[in-house]
Amino acid sequence: MNLREKWEDQAGQWLAWARAPGHDSFWRHHGEQFSRLLPPPGVLTLDIGCGEGRLSRQLAAAGHKVIGVDASPSLIAAARSADPSIAVTRADAAALPLADRCADLAIAFMSLQDVDAMPAAMHEAARVLKPGGRFCMAIVHPLNSAGRFESLAPDAPFVVRGSYLDSFTFSDAVERDGLSMTFHSAHRPLQSYFAALEDAGFLIEALREPSIPEAIVARDSSRRWLRVPLFLHLRCLRP
Ligand SMILES: C[S@@+](CC[C@H](N)C(=O)[O-])C[C@H]1O[C@@H](n2cnc3c(N)ncnc32)[C@H](O)[C@@H]1O
Repeated sequence: MNLREKWEDQAGQWLAWARAPGHDSFWRHHGEQFSRLLPPPGVLTLDIGCGEGRLSRQLAAAGHKVIGVDASPSLIAAARSADPSIAVTRADAAALPLADRCADLAIAFMSLQDVDAMPAAMHEAARVLKPGGRFCMAIVHPLNSAGRFESLAPDAPFVVRGSYLDSFTFSDAVERDGLSMTFHSAHRPLQSYFAALEDAGFLIEALREPSIPEAIVARDSSRRWLRVPLFLHLRCLRP
């Protein structure tokens, strides 16, 4: 199975995980951290790899006209039934069924590390954006996906046992608060993402490396994450 098929296979688990109130990092801090990077609503916003549609719904509530795109038939069906007023379509990020230069904002929130043909998806994002449009993306930080902490202790060593510079796929089975989810993803070094952006013609305008905010760390056992970024955020200009 490729990554796209593995995500369809996990659709039921993802639905439960993504929608459980306050469960996923999206609800605890990440959605708000990412929203700071976004330009205001324009004519059309694409949510590439929209999943069950939680970000599409937030964007629509903030005044964006949104089209959500995802490869998983089950997640697209869930997004459509959660809010039928938001247009969603089942497609691969590497072959968007959209006209050239139709949008002024394309978003890929936590999807590109799960997309098999990531460079082709970047090209598609550039193709559907108008000149002057923005591409905003969040991924698992490549340092994070290259290694892991040896324990939960605040000063636990973070160890890269394989190679940061190689690309590889991996599956991370996580259990928390009675929910289980297997994340099927690719680790790619930063230069893979930046080469794809360069090749697609994007100019990088802003870069953030968010981790768990201090206020949340103070309440749980995640203090080790103050030393290593969880995510990478980029805002890019399509000239
Ligand atoms: C971690 S989930 C994020 C979903 C959504 N952005 C969110 O935050 O709720 C990754 C998503 O990428 C989608 N995906 C994986 N490969 C894809 C591809 N080739 N084209 C489009 N979507 C894909 C999966 O179906 C899944 O919905």
